[in-house]
Amino acid sequence: MNIAVLVSGGGTNLQALINAEQNGEIHGGNIAAVISSNPNAYALERAKKAFIPSYILKRKDYETAEDYGIALDTMLCHIKIDLVVLAGFMTVLPDSFCKKWFNKIINVHPSLIPSFCGEGFYGLHVHEAALAKGVKVTGATVHFVSEIVDGGAIILQKAVEVMPDDTPEILQRRVMEQAEWHILPKAVSLFCENRLQIDGQTVKILPEN
Ligand code: GAR
Repeated sequence: MNIAVLVSGGGTNLQALINAEQNGEIHGGNIAAVISSNPNAYALERAKKAFIPSYILKRKDYETAEDYGIALDTMLCHIKIDLVVLAGFMTVLPDSFCKKWFNKIINVHPSLIPSFCGEGFYGLHVHEAALAKGVKVTGATVHFVSEIVDGGAIILQKAVEVMPDDTPEILQRRVMEQAEWHILPKAVSLFCENRLQIDGQTVKILPEN
């Protein structure tokens, strides 16, 4: 399967996917394109180093979210993409795009959904909210994308401990290291192996053949 990874920033999750592919851990899939909403994203350097074609699609070049979604859809169809992975992609996609690509878009979110998710919960803000609430355990979630922000069916989750002296930055790093970088490549591989059976909000992981 041809995978497009959509990014906006540092791209450590993209790197985890690149490393997994190089180690033969993405069964039946290859990263065919990296698409960035930000021309200065370090993720683009990572794509270049791995010889993956990259494209820039800036939200402000389009009048509406709808137009942005159409441009993205055209690009994905042109490069014959089967799976879209949102890896720190900070642009909200329009409903029409989510509908067309239903159950073909995967997102990684830095909390245990349904905690600390939805509108306004992205990047460091998620960890700030977790620390403000005083939770002892947080984590990461990989889920399918629906029209509801962070509301699609959950594929994998992993819990991570919160330590007494954590700052949002320290906690973010631990959640990435202990959860995101593991469950995102795993979920992508399961998708490419056709091992995800979706029944409404529930995703069943089928055994290996
Ligand atoms: C990651 O923590 C990812 O889970 C989060 O942004 C960071 C991107 O880091 N995504 C969201 O908050 C989406 N709602 P990266 O660019 O180093 O992969």
